[in-house]
Amino acid sequence: MGLEVIILAAGQGTRMKSAMPKVLHRLAHLPLLEHVYRAACALHPEGIHIVYGHGGEAVARQLAHLEARWVEQPEQLGTGHAVGRALPELADDARVLVLYGDVPLVRPATLLGLAEAGDGALALLTAQVVDPAGYGRILRDADGRVQGIVEHKDAREEQRRIKEINTGMLAVPTGLLRGWLENLDNDNAQGEYYLTDIVALAVGDGVEVRTVQPERRTEILGVNDRVQLAHLERHYQHMNAEQLMRAGVTLRDPARFDLRGELEAGRDVVIDVNVVIEGRVRLGDRVEIGPGVVLRETSVGDDVKIDANSVVESAKIAAGCRIGPFSRIRPGTELADEVHIGNFVELKNSQIGKGSKINHLSYVGDTTVGAGVNIGAGTITCNYDGANKHRTVIGDGAFIGSNTQLIAPVEIGAGATIGAGSTISSDAPPGELTLGRARQTTIKGWKRPTKGDR
Ligand code: UD1
Ligand code: CA
Repeated sequence: MGLEVIILAAGQGTRMKSAMPKVLHRLAHLPLLEHVYRAACALHPEGIHIVYGHGGEAVARQLAHLEARWVEQPEQLGTGHAVGRALPELADDARVLVLYGDVPLVRPATLLGLAEAGDGALALLTAQVVDPAGYGRILRDADGRVQGIVEHKDAREEQRRIKEINTGMLAVPTGLLRGWLENLDNDNAQGEYYLTDIVALAVGDGVEVRTVQPERRTEILGVNDRVQLAHLERHYQHMNAEQLMRAGVTLRDPARFDLRGELEAGRDVVIDVNVVIEGRVRLGDRVEIGPGVVLRETSVGDDVKIDANSVVESAKIAAGCRIGPFSRIRPGTELADEVHIGNFVELKNSQIGKGSKINHLSYVGDTTVGAGVNIGAGTITCNYDGANKHRTVIGDGAFIGSNTQLIAPVEIGAGATIGAGSTISSDAPPGELTLGRARQTTIKGWKRPTKGDR
């Protein structure tokens, strides 16, 4: 029997005090709704149906890459109404799993258990909480059988003392759900069509109501304001950090490490404090990452050391490289083995050959650098003429003296030496010394002026 997932995401999220719909706010760089979507995908459902509402076009537009059917709920008339909007397209013999787009940390294992419990029955994800205020309460009879759910606002004093709450997530056969939704009314404290009212209808129809509990408390926590969002973010980061440490990564301080994507790390990797990893990042064995480093969409080979406060984006770093402190490596850069990139060096869209060194204060863009090249302090590739970008090519073993400008397009031959302070606008031949600077002169007998001179 197929599984269909409905994700409710039409709420306005007023308490976020934001122009952006709530489910687009990010946790670990990923929109809240996408977390839920990914958890749902892990169950390989037939379809995922996302109910959007207020400002929802922005949601569908920004998350157009999700393989989902977008269902509009023009007015937020309640959770029962929202699920009803998605239902017409679903086959009666499918099972439906209802999730919330603002409850991002629910785990696939929990959802699987819930979906399985919803086979021929109504399955609710419930939890015992210390402070149940605001939640719907699970009503059970003397034998512990579920009788219904009462919303906080509709609950009597003694019902409010019940600590078992409805998380909102449930699973049920579509055919049954369809029949119950048709019989909902909005005669309650909020004037809404409550999805929770199907529980009493199920009991009335003699359909078994089962309950399933999540393993972790945070799985059921929703985001209503930015305080809760930050709380879940910390929790999520803490979980990731623990997982990495258990897998053999040293984090100098797990509370000061942020993973906003996926990190694949080799053996004996050491990561110092305040490191941010974004997108897909791969680190080889024995890699050391210094404090304050940002790595985005980058692969790093074995035995690489990246020193403090370096930013590396969309780059490939081969084994044994030394980078930083304070290096900036921009997209399209590839470093071969044993390359050294030092402080205040910016690289962009450049390939640097084995063992080459650019140790201080340089900009190298759109450049192919051979092996064993030494680029002196203050070297700048002038790759942009105001309209187009041009390439610079530097052959193996070349030596570029300090404070050199290489005006692209230009080629420096293998083994060439460029004198310090040169401005090089035409190709320099291999193996020769090329200079492009004013010749030094000395004016013999010149005297400094003194005060009172006329
Ligand atoms: C709901 C449950 C409550 C449960 C709680 C858990 C009902 C009637 N109550 O209450 O038992 O304890 O969640 O957090 O279901 N939404 C729509 N369209 C609507 C209304 C809501 O898409 O018309 C979405 C919201 O965006 C949200 C979810 O449904 O993701 C829950 O809605 P919300 O208004 O927060 O329900 P609660 O009152 O918290
Ligand atoms: Ca809520």
